[in-house]
Amino acid sequence: MEHTLFSPFQLGSYTLRNRIGVAPMTRMSSRADSVPRQDVLDFLVRRAEKGAALVYTEAIVTDYESAQGYPGQARLTTQRQIEAWKPVTDAIRRAGAVSVMQMFHCGRMAWPEVNPAGRVIAPSPSAPKQDNPLTGQPYSVPDEMTQFDIKHVINGFAETAKGAVEAGFDGIEIHGAHGYLISQFLSSYSNQRTDAYGGSVENRYRFAHEVIQAVRPVVPEDRLLTFRISNWGVADMAVSLFNDRDEYQEVIRRLSGEPIDAISVSTYDYAEKAFGTDRNMARLTREATPLSLMICGRIYDRRSAEEALQDADIVLSAKSILLNPDWVADVRTGSALPLYRSEEANVAYTPEPLP
Ligand SMILES: Cc1cc2nc3c(=O)[nH]c(=O)nc-3n(C[C@H](O)[C@H](O)[C@H](O)COP(=O)(O)O)c2cc1C
Repeated sequence: MEHTLFSPFQLGSYTLRNRIGVAPMTRMSSRADSVPRQDVLDFLVRRAEKGAALVYTEAIVTDYESAQGYPGQARLTTQRQIEAWKPVTDAIRRAGAVSVMQMFHCGRMAWPEVNPAGRVIAPSPSAPKQDNPLTGQPYSVPDEMTQFDIKHVINGFAETAKGAVEAGFDGIEIHGAHGYLISQFLSSYSNQRTDAYGGSVENRYRFAHEVIQAVRPVVPEDRLLTFRISNWGVADMAVSLFNDRDEYQEVIRRLSGEPIDAISVSTYDYAEKAFGTDRNMARLTREATPLSLMICGRIYDRRSAEEALQDADIVLSAKSILLNPDWVADVRTGSALPLYRSEEANVAYTPEPLP
């Protein structure tokens, strides 16, 4: 009998053909028009044609001022950008998969040179401790976001979601993970505000809540809205973004009251025990939510995928599926598959078309 990995799953109004998805992966390939290279778009379609049930885009930049963190990122607000994605969402649908656009604002991880406003904004004027690996320079100390900034940024999320709906995406993901803006609000590591957006978990959660509330009305009822979360950030990676399990689970409980279809939990290793407990992130999330749950992190073969699925509904793969176009088929047959080396993922950022 086939494992549940290849059984259908009902996610909102969509019946996924299996439990395997392509995790969001930034590719930094866009030109001045903020449209990804054709081969980068083709890559997403090919993964759908090769059996993935769910295909996430790279993180798309949400506003015109200060959201971008890396060169060559995509945007999705102009007609031209929308037209570029339409054939992609169509092809993914024809291939029997579901497409989801992930969107983010980098907050204090932004790179002023590539943002029109030349300005970095964040919940509080505190920069990551480590240098920006792309520039070798310290990150800029951000401006503390004003009420105007907060409203403007929330509007940016809603506008980008509108672009994605117009481009035919089946779903939208709000990126609340990895130490980017929403995650910066959630974590006391980066949020030292003393107003209604800082202090208690309820206050730190407020920004995420307002983003979700602004985005949901522009996403038709039958399409998906998912939220990604993590306990680690791209900068200062060793820092636990939530103080403890209670704090993390409180945020998950709050998310569970939102009009979203799933929570996607990003880890570096799905099996790793979290917050000093004997449970992994998926298990701890499951304890606090009835929502559908996605997990990723070091899932590279059939055994790890099946094990990861014990505490989640869907597994996402980034590096394994990036490097191996036949990954879904290989997992199905239970082929012996290698665990990737992290450096191998750098191929994502080269002009080299992926297989
Ligand atoms: C090249 C590359 C780009 C990534 N870009 C994003 C991104 O844009 N948004 C996001 O949420 N995660 C991003 N990630 C993280 C992955 O989605 C995933 O959480 C992480 O790589 C762990 O999964 P894995 O062990 O299967 O690689 C990226 C990962 C890689 C390798």
